[in-house]
Amino acid sequence: MVLLPVVYLSLMQFILQKTALCSCVFPAILDPTHGFSSVPLNNSNFLLQKPYNIPAHERYSFVDGVHRFSVYNTDKPHTPGGTTRPRTEFRITGYDYTSGVWQFEGYGYVPNGTTGVAIMQVFGGKTLSTTLQFRVYNGSLTYYTSPVLEENIYDRWFRANVIHDVGAATVMAYIDGVLKYQGPDHGNDTHYFKIGVYTQHNESHYMESRWKDIKILRK
Ligand SMILES: *[C@@H]1O[C@H](CO)[C@@H](O)[C@H](O)[C@H]1NC(C)=O
Ligand SMILES: *[C@@H]1O[C@H](CO)[C@@H](O)[C@H](O)[C@H]1NC(C)=O
Ligand SMILES: *[C@@H]1O[C@H](CO)[C@@H](O)[C@H](O)[C@H]1NC(C)=O
Ligand SMILES: *[C@@H]1O[C@H](CO)[C@@H](O)[C@H](O)[C@H]1NC(C)=O
Ligand SMILES: *[C@@H]1O[C@H](CO)[C@@H](O)[C@H](O)[C@H]1NC(C)=O
Repeated sequence: MVLLPVVYLSLMQFILQKTALCSCVFPAILDPTHGFSSVPLNNSNFLLQKPYNIPAHERYSFVDGVHRFSVYNTDKPHTPGGTTRPRTEFRITGYDYTSGVWQFEGYGYVPNGTTGVAIMQVFGGKTLSTTLQFRVYNGSLTYYTSPVLEENIYDRWFRANVIHDVGAATVMAYIDGVLKYQGPDHGNDTHYFKIGVYTQHNESHYMESRWKDIKILRK
């Protein structure tokens, strides 16, 4: 009889601990940025690559915190004499890496009609020139041409987190906080992140992506 309050107290403590676990530790594990620190970024870290013969303002704008990139499949490459397909992209500078664990975070938006285009890249690799590409085909977000990571991607903001662990040679992609892809990288090289529009296959005449709240994080 005398012991009952003690049992009751222990039970309450147990319940409280469990509640604390559920409301605090669990969401932290789910957030892909947990354990990472973001590095400082300003305009000097965003190098714009756009059709070389066209003024930047015709293919890129920055309004209310939103970077808007567009390109036509008939545009010229970003360098005179270049042979790559048309692009309007930020090449993120200042944080090129050859080792470590790095993460890109950004909120992306692709308007209906844009297809056949890469909208985010982890540049550099040994067996391919890139470690990862997010592309859009027919309204789906894909890792290269497959697999599909997320359907119905048009006309809405989505959160993208990409983690590249060079030592483990792996890459992970989260859409809206959910792990959608995990696989091997394409070998060691100097790496950096790119966002925008880079023409691929079966593309629309006009391609556009928008990005905001861009962060680079590292462990
Ligand atoms: C932007 O960042 C660069 C490199 O980190 C730094 O040297 C520069 O002072 C910064 N510029 C501004 C305006 O904060
Ligand atoms: C790639 O680079 C990382 C970091 O320097 C290193 O740990 C790893 O052994 C390298 N992998 C290969 C296959 O060279
Ligand atoms: C995209 O536009 C096409 C043509 O106007 C329309 O048929 C389709 O329903 C639209 N898709 C979405 C997801 O809004
Ligand atoms: C996208 O749609 C086009 C035209 O219907 C088709 O040729 C192409 O194979 C599709 N691509 C993918 C990746 O589904
Ligand atoms: C491009 O379209 C052709 C013809 O419809 C199709 O065979 C091919 O798979 C498509 N490629 C991609 C990457 O969608």
